Formats: sequence, C-alpha cells, structure tokens
Amino acid sequence: MKTLELQEKTHDEARQGEAFAPFAEEPNVFKKKFYIESYGCAMNFSDSEIVASLLYNEGFGATQNVEEADLILLNTCSIREKAELTVRKRLTEFRKLKLVRRSMLVGMLGCMAERLKGKLLEEEKLVDLVVGPDAYRSLPQLIKEAETGQKGVNVLLSRDETYADISPVRLNSNGITAFVSIMRGCNNMCSFCVVPFTRGRERSRDADSIVNECRDLFTQGFREVTLLGQNVDSYYWMDEQKDLTITFAKLLEMVASIDPLLRVRFSTSHPKDITDEVLFTMAKYNNICKYIHLPVQSGSTRVLQLMNRTYTREWYMAKVDRIKEIMPDCSISADIIAGFCTETEEDHQDTLSIMEYSKYDMSYMFFYSERPGTLAARRFTDDVPLDVKKRRLDEIVKLQNRMSQQSNLLDIGKTFEVLIEGNSKKSDSDWAGRTSQNKVLVFPKNITPLAKGDYVHVKVTAATGATLIGEIV
Ligand code: SAH
Ligand code: SF4
Ligand code: F3S
Repeated sequence: MKTLELQEKTHDEARQGEAFAPFAEEPNVFKKKFYIESYGCAMNFSDSEIVASLLYNEGFGATQNVEEADLILLNTCSIREKAELTVRKRLTEFRKLKLVRRSMLVGMLGCMAERLKGKLLEEEKLVDLVVGPDAYRSLPQLIKEAETGQKGVNVLLSRDETYADISPVRLNSNGITAFVSIMRGCNNMCSFCVVPFTRGRERSRDADSIVNECRDLFTQGFREVTLLGQNVDSYYWMDEQKDLTITFAKLLEMVASIDPLLRVRFSTSHPKDITDEVLFTMAKYNNICKYIHLPVQSGSTRVLQLMNRTYTREWYMAKVDRIKEIMPDCSISADIIAGFCTETEEDHQDTLSIMEYSKYDMSYMFFYSERPGTLAARRFTDDVPLDVKKRRLDEIVKLQNRMSQQSNLLDIGKTFEVLIEGNSKKSDSDWAGRTSQNKVLVFPKNITPLAKGDYVHVKVTAATGATLIGEIV
C-alpha cells in the first residue's frame, strides 16, 4: 500500500526519493498532476483515497497546489442545499484558472455528480467529467476521452461495487488515524435524505479485505481505524468458503483482534440496528473506542415517524439507557435536524428534552433543507419558516454547547489513555490526541521522549467547551 509520504514531499524531492518506488519503472512518472477536494461525509474522504489510488496507477501524482494541477477533482456532497452551493461557488473559482490553463480538466465526483448527472455538463460549462460514487473505476478511461475533447459522464450505480481490492492512497494523513470503508449505499429511506439516491443500494465489503487493509495500516504505523458506512450495524458478509456469517459485531472483533495497540472506531450507527452483541463486543475490547455516534434527528415520535426513522422517542431513550448500562463510560453524539416538515414548538421541545436525556457529548446540528426527489420532498410541504428553523436550531446549538462544556468539566481530575496524533494546533510544545471517548486532549510535551502514535496516560486539569487540557501522569 502506498502512503501519503508521496504527497507530503514536493515533487522534486519525491522524484529522488524512494517514496515513488511503485512507479520507478514507469518512464513518464507523474507527468501529470491531480488535485482533489472532498466535501461531505467521511465516506467521501475515503472515496477520494480510492480515486487517488486509481489515478496513481495511471501515472498521475497528487498535488496540493491547485495552480499546477492538470486535473482538478471535486468530490461533492448533496446532503443539504448549502453543500451544493459551496461546490458551485468553488467551480466558478476554477473557471478563472481554466482560462489561463486551457488543457486543465475539471471533474465532478460524488453525490452531487450522481444527483445532477449530465445537467452539470450542460449548465456548468467548465466541467469535463461527471463520475458517480460507483463508477470510479471508469475514471482513467473518461480522463483519456476528456483529453481528446470528449466530455464524459458515468453515474451508473452498482449493486456490488465495494472497491474491496483497491488499496487507498492516504491523503492528508497524519500517519496515525485512517478511515476504512466497510460498506456502501443505504437501504433506509429516511424521508429527508438524498443518500439512498446518490449512493444506491446497501452492500457490504468482503470482511477479509477489510481486516487485511486494517492490518496493513497497523504495519505501516497507523494506530486507529474508523470503520465507515452509512449504517454500519447492518454490515453483513457471508464467507462462503468458511460457511460463516459475519455481522458487524463479529467484524469489530476481527479488527480489534489485529493488535491491542490498534484502536477501532466506527460510524454511523442507526439506532434501530445497533445490537446488544455490538455493545458487548465494544465492552469486551479495550481497543474498541467507547464512543457511539447515534443520530436521533428528532425527539418527537410523530416527527420521527414522518422521517421514516422506524423508532420512537421511547425506543431511542431505551437504547441510550442500554449503552450506559453496558458501558457507563461510553460517550454518545448525535445528528439533529431542526424544523422538519410540520414540526411544532412541542415537537421541538421534545428534541431539546431528548438531548438532555441522552446527555450528548457532541452533536452535528442542522436545519431541515429540502432535497429534490426525496420522500419528504414528494410527500410533505417544507412548511416551517426559515426564521423559525434557524431560531430552533440556535436553541439546539446553545443547549449542546452547554452540555458539551458540562461533560468536559466532569472530566477534570480524571485520567485518560490518549493516542497521540501530533502537535497541538496552537503550539509545537504541546501534544494533541484523543481519548477513547473521542474528546481532544491537549497536554505539554515533557522530558519523556514520546512520538505520535504512542499511548500515554493524561490527567485532565482544565477544559473548554471543545477541548480537554491535561498533563502526563
Ligand atoms: N447515515 C447517517 C447520516 C448520514 S447524513 C445516519 O443515518 O445517521 C448526515 C446527517 O445529515 C443526517 O444524520 C442528518 O442529520 C443530516 N441530514 C440529512 N439530510 C438532511 C436534510 N435534508 N436537511 C438537513 N439535514 C439533513
Ligand atoms: Fe440517510 Fe437515513 Fe440512510 Fe442515514 S440511514 S444515509 S439518514 S437514509
Ligand atoms: Fe454527502 Fe453523499 Fe456523504 S450526500 S453526506 S457525501 S453520502
């Protein structure tokens, strides 16, 4: 597997270095450079690493300098209108670059490419390629065609593509933490959500290929993997040779067993699918992080039903109780949507109260943004006025900030095992890492020689809303 060392070096340095060994026999090593930007969820970042791998095999090298790129790729997101607006704005910036460098190609990848298909070629005259999430293997061919002036689109969705055999090229990596995609698509059909349309049917990746990728990462010095999927708890793989069924709990166990020094995280869990078996597996392995991202979306059973989330307020609260019962030290975070269709003040109060009940350590909070083609767009009216949505979101954010602060203050005096990820953003004389509960902990380097990737015990001495501060014990 290639690592990001490739990317971190400048091209001149790299040409002399061993990091480019995989391409040493190629006479035209990196005669072209690509630049890739990713938007949206972690799955998109992970996909960009697959795309990078495909492009390296074609002799392209990565650059972080857009001005010298022969190929600019935007891996886009459609989840909210704002996400698409950001990409459109970025495209207009590239238009200027393209005036200067006419041979430069611009490609649109990911969910927005999937949603808008050929429209992007017609409307956004500067896009040369449009490639959906299941069609990245066709990128090299489409690039070749685009180089001859033939613009190309491939937005075919697949029932079985998982890119299982591709070793991702780690982009912008700290060398310690990595994302590993374990499944693609989503079968859930939450009424507000565009993902089932942009990423297609749910399918799981071969378990052995996942474990091998994680083991390779560990061998290269990585110390944490985050297993990714829209709904990881419905992971399901049938190993026909061994006549074995692998559930998410089993997969977690397989990855955790690679080495006690490899931390395992995962995202996202749908509350309806996370099982006791998963919770007990988490409790059993110290290296499976005690952190669950458990999107609630709303605290009102009526709204949850309209959202097609398939659980009630009470069912969700019982799940939170079960998590805390099995793992009292487990932290929980959520996704929350304010102002979904027909949401009343009372429904909104239900959201605030379920937040307090669940004591989220952190949340991702949004106001509802209608997405064309979704069930909600077809069936319901987006009838909560924008100012009401924003006011409710503001109340949700303020409550979460208070709760995050409270949760951090409660950590003062406690000692945590921290995996060092690198220097703190503010000072080279401090380390930054995360606790098992996914909180960032910053602490002064002391005389003990430590390096990123090391585990260290740190006692929390102070806290802000976002960060814990401590000292090595
Ligand atoms: N698969 C994950 C979430 C994927 S999208 C899950 O099921 O939880 C990430 C988050 O974006 C969602 O949890 C939701 O809170 C938010 N989101 C999705 N569609 C949205 C929309 N139309 N408007 C506002 N927020 C949305
Ligand atoms: Fe969207 Fe729901 Fe699937 Fe998450 S589970 S990706 S919110 S449809
Ligand atoms: Fe966005 Fe697609 Fe992820 S819509 S959130 S990039 S799956």
